[in-house]
Amino acid sequence: MRRHKIAAIPADGIGPEVINAGLEVLEALSASASNIAFDVTSFDWGTDYYKGHGEMMPTDGLRQLKPFDAIFFGAVGAPDVPDEITLWGLRLAICQGLDQYANVRPMRSLPGISSPLRGKEPGALDWVIVRENSEGEYAGQGGRTHRGMPEEVATEVAIFTRVGITRIIRYAFRVAQSRARKLLTVVTKSNAQRHGMVLWDEIAAEVAQEFPDVTWDKMLVDAMTARMVLRPESLDTIVATNLHADILSDLAAALAGSLGVAPTANIDPERRFPSMFEPIHGSAFDIARKGIANPVATFLTACQMLDHLGEADAAARLMKAVEEVCAAGVMTPDVGGTATTREVTDAVIGVICGSN
Ligand code: NAI
Ligand code: MG
Repeated sequence: MRRHKIAAIPADGIGPEVINAGLEVLEALSASASNIAFDVTSFDWGTDYYKGHGEMMPTDGLRQLKPFDAIFFGAVGAPDVPDEITLWGLRLAICQGLDQYANVRPMRSLPGISSPLRGKEPGALDWVIVRENSEGEYAGQGGRTHRGMPEEVATEVAIFTRVGITRIIRYAFRVAQSRARKLLTVVTKSNAQRHGMVLWDEIAAEVAQEFPDVTWDKMLVDAMTARMVLRPESLDTIVATNLHADILSDLAAALAGSLGVAPTANIDPERRFPSMFEPIHGSAFDIARKGIANPVATFLTACQMLDHLGEADAAARLMKAVEEVCAAGVMTPDVGGTATTREVTDAVIGVICGSN
């Protein structure tokens, strides 16, 4: 029996709805295969916790998380608390505190879910976006002086280090190498940003020497948006800075059909600390507690978590079950269906339990 210790942090809005669905699906995978078990501990951190304690998680929160094999995260954010408090207080605090420097976002069109890309085959969009997750434009450096005065100044300093760039580009080359097409696109904006982005380009060329079997090319981020829409089949693995990949991956999620089907992982490739797995979407307060949140992003997130835990068979079983349920048209309103979160979850569990 392989036991995996999972820390669940459902947090805000639809977070608890989709994480509960995800945990039920993991339970079904474990029940239908006698050799895997999940020991799940749930943490009540998030905006409600903040309202009671003045912080999004306890001061020793990171210490509490370190013994786990993985973190299964919902979403943070609430209409009545500034996003910079919720985001920096919990999600970014965990990503940075546990040095989860690779943010990995597989994107593909699923059967039954139509993409806004007209005239493209379903398989045309099958990408992995690797986002630098520890520095760059979201390093948090900068400040504001003369607040409220006419001469007010704000700086937002992007930080690019040789260590940070090298490790993310090397990781992206490894991801590309592990995929059938062995194709990597390095995205920068080195025509306008002449320092940090030029360093990215230089390091990409250096690291490429270690991967002679991977074909790679460079794109400027603005031109990249057009290529994603017009020639999706020309892309496979993509690596970009924190900001650029943040934006490109929302575009990718929309092209794949919906934010509700897009998963992501915050990985520490050296496995010094637990990695964190979460749907890409936020807390979606507009649909919270209506029972219609799409749980598919969270299921695909669970697939990534299972892969990371060395449970490739369970990941493949879950992926197949999700594809089957989507293809059968059991889906939530955001992707054109009429099913509830409960119905989609039950359908996926039904396939999992029936398939063994
Ligand atoms: P959002 O992702 O929460 O929602 C955007 C739109 O997509 C909404 O119309 C929503 O109903 C829909 N949507 C999202 N997930 C869905 C799902 N699973 N099923 C069906 N529809 C879905 O982004 P928004 O509205 O910009 O942000 C809301 C809050 O979430 C903010 O406080 C924001 O800071 C936070 N946020 C948190 C993230 C995280 O925890 N990783 C990521 C993005 C936003
Ligand atoms: Mg984003």
